[in-house]
Parts: sequence; structure tokens; C-alpha cells
Amino acid sequence: MPANYITSILKENRIFYPPKKFSENAHIKNMQQYGELYKKSVENPEAFWAEMALQLEWYKKWDTVLRNDMGFFKWFEGGYLNVCYNCLDRIVKSGKKNKTAFIWEPESGKCKTYTYGQLLKEVCKFANALKKLGVKKGHVVEIYLPMIPELPIAMLACARIGAIHSVVFGGFSSGALRDRIQDSKAELLVTSDGSFRNGKIYPLKENADNAIKECPSIKNVVVVKRTGKKVDIRKNRDYWWHELIKEENESCEPESMHSEESLFILYTSGTTGKPKGILHTQAGYLLFNYLTFKWIFDIKDNDIYFCTADIGWITGHSYIVYGPLANGATVVMYEGSPTFPKADRFWRIIDKHNVNIFYTAPTAIRALAKEGDKWPNKCSLSSLRLLGTVGEPINPEAWLWYHKVIGKEKCPIVDTWWQTETGGILISPLPGATPLKPGSTTKPFFGIEAEILREDGSKAAVNEGGYLVIKKPWPGMLRTVWMNPDVYKEKYFEKFGVYLTGDSAKIDDDGYFWVMGRTDDVIKVAGHRIGSAEVESALVSHKAVAEAAVVPFPHEIKGSAIYAFVVLKKGNKKSWKLKEELIAHVAEHVGPIARPDKVQFAEDLPKTRSGKIMRRILKAIAEGNKDYGNTATLSNPGIVETLLKEKIE
Ligand code: WTA
Repeated sequence: MPANYITSILKENRIFYPPKKFSENAHIKNMQQYGELYKKSVENPEAFWAEMALQLEWYKKWDTVLRNDMGFFKWFEGGYLNVCYNCLDRIVKSGKKNKTAFIWEPESGKCKTYTYGQLLKEVCKFANALKKLGVKKGHVVEIYLPMIPELPIAMLACARIGAIHSVVFGGFSSGALRDRIQDSKAELLVTSDGSFRNGKIYPLKENADNAIKECPSIKNVVVVKRTGKKVDIRKNRDYWWHELIKEENESCEPESMHSEESLFILYTSGTTGKPKGILHTQAGYLLFNYLTFKWIFDIKDNDIYFCTADIGWITGHSYIVYGPLANGATVVMYEGSPTFPKADRFWRIIDKHNVNIFYTAPTAIRALAKEGDKWPNKCSLSSLRLLGTVGEPINPEAWLWYHKVIGKEKCPIVDTWWQTETGGILISPLPGATPLKPGSTTKPFFGIEAEILREDGSKAAVNEGGYLVIKKPWPGMLRTVWMNPDVYKEKYFEKFGVYLTGDSAKIDDDGYFWVMGRTDDVIKVAGHRIGSAEVESALVSHKAVAEAAVVPFPHEIKGSAIYAFVVLKKGNKKSWKLKEELIAHVAEHVGPIARPDKVQFAEDLPKTRSGKIMRRILKAIAEGNKDYGNTATLSNPGIVETLLKEKIE
């Protein structure tokens, strides 16, 4: 984030205490209770996590809580359980067979609900269908679906039979899907005949067909009928979901899984060209999300919880599917756009289903705040008791709007900091205990030791910005990068020997964390993680482009947006048309979310004598600040002036 972000935080020094009644009824009621338990949890994390793990149901208890296997961390080795069993059968057995698990709200508004009992049956049927198609324990199943119930059903079915799911966000293009399948070597793909967004149909099956032309590992494709749009169904490869499950048995024995067998891969953008397959395993991931969800969202049996994330991202995995279900919670899942048909869709959903807990992203808050208070003010929103945010720093202005206009000044806000790699929330308020400072993600969760380091590895002083690191392993952490253990070690542990988050942050006098932004080349566009290298390689794959570099620039609603500097090959004319074409090219090759907002044609890019592009300079130009640092080391110092002159406003 730009430096002025911090200044604006410093001006906002109000503290918001949890309402008394909220605290009285909360799982964690005050800072003393937090402090005592936190101390216990970090003094002996293994004892803490072992005690918590008893809340899950195991086929066989573990032998060791934690083992460091040459930098690869193993939790609960020797233990066996099934994640799907813990999320469904265990809840049904506890007497909640008829409790609603999912309330699915499609864009069209005609809801469908699943009780825990019904969900279990649907999951078993699909699990049996997967087995019939030859999917076995340890196989990878790629899932490319919109926000429809079949998405969590497919994930849980994989977990039940020990297959590894790899969900690809339904808004990604065929190229992004292809890259991810090629890396994961999936055997089977689950997709749909399309998805609805803003009333329009997005062609998932066509994208899938294009992708798998270059993915020989895919043997079968299961297609969910969602839109009714006509699609190609290839014989002996493609099967309709509804036809497959028609005859299937409603029970399916869950596979007994070792704690450290793989549960899922989720690709995320890193600094390298190809996205990284973040691997999560069984028991540790489940335990961490079970507990963070329970305490951070302060979940109670009669709560209705609504998370607006797409399951294609980690937030949906951990806090729509695994965390809530392991707690037997009722989850609202929405299919479409926040502004369809109008800008009050989220607020209407809250009223319609009496939502008590609402979890969304700062970018959505900013976008909806811009639409005006009249939309939320037309709704009651009186069922809400707790709000949450995730994905990027929330500016105090947006925080205050959320607090006042949505929460009516009575709902605590949990600003939850975490990453695809961390599996679940690491730094966040506990809503019944933690006094809130708008813009701060407050304090670490139990068992988490976070710190700010300087470049030389020494501890930063109070209020001094630096690298955010996590000092000790935690059960929800990534286990490796799929097929690439060297990248795991190098990206996350090489610099300081402890887990490097890639974020910069500071800790204030009260021990509160303030996350400032990324330190690497990851750009957070509307809260979504986009690797600059992925966008650059898409640009360079266009026939007119010789070279490209992309950097973030501050954007009122998206937080950051993408600014692309493009050098054309000789003989190509700069034109508006070509700009539009390049933007469309990126949308097609990576996905619409990665679309650059600004494209500047350049004769050259600022480079060191060894030929490295100086992104720092491009970033300063895009941000409109004069903070280029030293330009003397450039092989072509004059270029900075030229780029500045031609800057896109
Ligand atoms: C950013 C999303 C500030 C951060 C769960 C992190 C945040 C990246 C917050 C991970 C927050 C997430 N405040 N920044 N509350 N939450 N971030 O993998 O830069 O999509 O490294 O996981 O989002 O993004 P990812």
C-alpha cells in the first residue's frame, strides 16, 4: 500500500470496545482470558493443539503432535481421521441431522437448502459416482464450478474417498485452468454447462473443453447442468452429474486418512510465472479451521452465517466449507454478483435469511459504500451481530462505514489476516474480547507467534515497518508446494529461517498488528491475488508485444489495480485499439480479474545494467510519487523522464 495509508491510520486512533452483552455470551469473553490462553498456547503449542484436537473424531489417535522433517512440518502423525466424516457424519450423529447446513441463494433468488442429513446423502452419492469413474485415494480431481451446491458437495466427496481436490476459480479463463490442470495432473474434471453472473452466462464447459485439449491427464469430465445452455458432451469422456448420481447409493464408507495425507491443492499467485500449488493436508487443516471459525466468528448453534467469498479462493475453502461445517453451522452461499439485480443484494440476503454473522472483503465494502447509504438503509440488517473482513488492508474510512451503516454501531468487526498458505486466520480480533482499532488486524490467534523483522533479520522496533513472519509452525500451515518442495523452502523459509508471509507490517505500542501490503510482486486486485509474472507472460504472448512489466497502483475501490508498461515489437503501431486488444488478451489468458486498468506503451523499460527490470521505479511512476530511489544504476536513465511524460492518468 502507498505510504499515505499508514498516515491515514495514524489519524484514526479511536478504540471500539466489544458490546457488554456480546462479551458476556462470547466463547472468549475478555482480554484476560485471551491473554492467559494465548500464553499457554505459545509456551507449549503442542500440548495446546493436542488438547484441542480431542474435539475432533479420530479413527486412531496420533503418536506425535508435531515433527520437523527437515523443514517440512508434520502434525498429528500416526493419527487417522476423515475430514468429510468430521464435517457431516459427526454433526448428524450429534443430533443435527435436520439442521440446515447450506442455504443456497442463486442469482435468480429461488433458494435451495440442504440439511446436514441431506448434504451427507448428496456427498455420498457423488463420492460413489467418482469411485465408479475410477477415482481412487490420492488421485487429483480438478473442480471448475460456479458458486452452486455441487461445488462443496464435490469437495466433500473427494475428502470422503481420499481424493485430492483442486478447485479453480470459476472466473478464470481456459488458459489459467489448463496451467493448473497440467501442474496438478488431475484425472477428472468437474465443471458445469455455464455459470450465471449479472444475469449473463459464462461458458465454463467451453473453457474446460479448450483447456483439456492440452491436458492428457484428464480421463473423465463430470458436467453439472446449471444454465441449460447447450454444450458438447463427448461420449465416453463427459457425463452429466444428475445422470451419474441417479442410481447411486446414499451411503459411502469414509476412507480412513492419515493426518498428513493430502486434502487439497489450491493454486495461488506467486512471484514466479506459474502459480504455486499450495498443499494442505487432513487433520491439522481441519483442526485449525474448526477452532479459528468457532472462536473468531464466535459461532453459536442458532447463528446464520454468510460469507461472500467464492469457494474458488481459500476463504471459501476454509470459511464456507470446512470450518463452518466442522462446527455444524448454517452457511448462506450466494451464487452471483453483489450488485445483481441492484446494489442491495447482500443487504437483502441478510434480511431474507436473518443473517447474524457476515464476512466479506474490503473491496466489496468500498464498492457498496460508493453506491450510497440508501441501499442498506432500505433494509433492516437488525439480525446482524458480528461482521468480518478479509483479503487486504481495510482503510479506516471503509471500516467506519461498515461499522456504522451495516453494523449500526453494535457489531464488532473481525479484521482477519491470513493467506492461502496459512490455511486459516492467524491474526484477528476475538470479537467478545479484543478492543478494535479501525485498520488494525489486532492480535495473533492462539498458538501463533508473529513478529516484524528488519532486512538483517533483527527484530523491528515498535511502530517500525518490516517483514511479517510467523516464528513457529501451526496446524493449518501449507505442507509444501505441489511437486515443488524447493520452492516451498526457498520462498517461505530461506530468507529468515522462519515462515515469511510476503507482507510488510508493523506492531504498535499496544502490540496491535497493522498490515501494510505485499513486499513481493504479488498484486492484490480487489482482494484477489494476482502474480505480476502471470499477467506479464500473458501480455508477452500477444504477437505485438516485445516486453511488459506490470505494477500495482492505488485504486479507490479495488484497493490496487494493475498498471501495465508495454514495449511493442518493431512495426507495431501504438493505438487505442491495440490497447483494448491487449486488455482483452489478458482477460482471456488469465481471467477478467487480471485485466490491467491502465496500459502505457513505452519505448523501453528501466533496467539495471544486468538487464533486470526496475519495478520499484515503475511502481513509483504508476503511483504518482517521486520516490524512484537511485536511478544512476540504470543502463538507460533517460527512460524515467520519458515514461513520466507519457504516464496514463
Ligand atoms: C492480504 C486471503 C491486510 C495479505 C485469505 C496476504 C490482508 C494476502 C488481510 C493473502 C487483512 C489478507 N489485512 N491484508 N485482514 N487478509 N490480506 O492468499 O497481503 O488470497 O498476504 O488469502 O492477502 O491473500 P490470499
